[in-house]
Amino acid sequence: MTILVTGGAGYIGSHTVDCLIRRGFDVVVVDNLVTGHRQAVNPKARFYKGDVRDANFLSHVFDREHIDGVIHFASVSIVPESMRDPLHYFDDNVEGTITLLEAMRDHNVKRIVFSSSASVYGDPKRMPIKESDPKVPTNPYGETKLMMERMMNWADVAYGIHFIALRYFNVGGAKLDGSIGEDHNPETHLIPIILQVALGQRNQLQIFGDDYPTKDGTNVRDYVHVLDLANAHILAMKWLLRGGHSDIFNLGSSTGFSNLQMLQAARDVTGQPISASMAPRRPGDPSTLIADSSKARKILGWKPKYDDIHKIISSAWKWTRKHPNGYEK
Ligand code: UFG
Repeated sequence: MTILVTGGAGYIGSHTVDCLIRRGFDVVVVDNLVTGHRQAVNPKARFYKGDVRDANFLSHVFDREHIDGVIHFASVSIVPESMRDPLHYFDDNVEGTITLLEAMRDHNVKRIVFSSSASVYGDPKRMPIKESDPKVPTNPYGETKLMMERMMNWADVAYGIHFIALRYFNVGGAKLDGSIGEDHNPETHLIPIILQVALGQRNQLQIFGDDYPTKDGTNVRDYVHVLDLANAHILAMKWLLRGGHSDIFNLGSSTGFSNLQMLQAARDVTGQPISASMAPRRPGDPSTLIADSSKARKILGWKPKYDDIHKIISSAWKWTRKHPNGYEK
C-alpha cells in the first residue's frame, strides 16, 4: 500500500511517516519545506519537494506514484499568526486542499485522512467537547480547518472521495529515542517554549492571561502525545482501506491541564526552576478545550499509550536536549 503524506516533513507528519514505514507501508512525502525539515523525514520515504497548491507538481507526483491513499498534513497552523494574516491561512490551507482534492479526483484516488483541529469549535461552554457540538471558530486558522472539512464532505458526495477528519487537541512529545521532534521557527507553542526556558535558551515563560474562567485563571488544554496521534492516522487510513465511510473524530486525552499546571509538570520532569511571568491574553485563545475522544476509541479502536502529561513532556525534553537548536544546526 502506498500512502502519500503531504506535509510529511512537519512535526506531526514526520512522526506519522516514521510510524507508517515501521508498520510496512510504502510512503511518498510531499512538502514545500517552508516550515518542515528534510532531516525529519524517514529516509525510506520517497521525497518530493513542492507545494500542494501547485497543480502541475501534484499531477507529476500522482502520475509517477501509484497512490492508494493520502494523509494530508500540509498547512499553516499557528493560531496567533492566523489572527495577524488570515488571507495567508485561507490561501495555504483552503487553496492547498482544493488543489489536492482536484488531483485526487483526476487520478482516481478515493481515500484521505486529514488534520483538522479543536479550533473548529471556537470557545465552547460544554466540556468535554463532542464532535457534534457547535462549530464557531474564534480564529482564522480554525475557520480554514472547518472549511476544509466541509469541502471534503461535498467532494465525497460528488466524487466519492472518502475522508476521515481528525480534530487534534494540543499535540506534544517526540519519538521516544529523541531522534525527531518539534522544531518551529519562531516557536509559539507552550511545551517547547517552556523547555527552551528549562534549557536556558530563553529567560522566561510568559503566560498569556490569568483572568480566564478556569480553576487557576489560565487557559486549559488537552494534550495528546504525537505518537498516539500518528497511530490514529494509521487506524483512520486502515478504516478507509477496509471500505469505511467518511467520518470525523476528536483526538485528545479527555483531561485538561492549565498553563500553570503544565509549567509545574515541566518543572517536575526537568528539575529546573523555569521562570515565568503573567502577560496579557493572546488574541484568539479559547478559555478551555477538552476533548471527548470516546468516538475514536469506539469506532477506530484508538487507545492512546502515552496518556500522561509527564510522559509527553519527558519525551519532548529528551528531543530538546539532544537537539537544542532543532534540526538545522
Ligand atoms: N501559551 C502561553 N505562553 C506561550 C505560549 C503559549 O501562555 O509562550 C499558552 C497559550 O496562550 C495557550 C496554551 O499555552 O493557552 C497553548 O498554546 P499553544 O500555542 O501551545 O497551542 P494552541 O492551544 O494555541 O493551539 C494548538 C495548536 C492548534 C490547535 C489547538 C487546539 O497549535 O493547531 O492547539 O487546541 F488548533
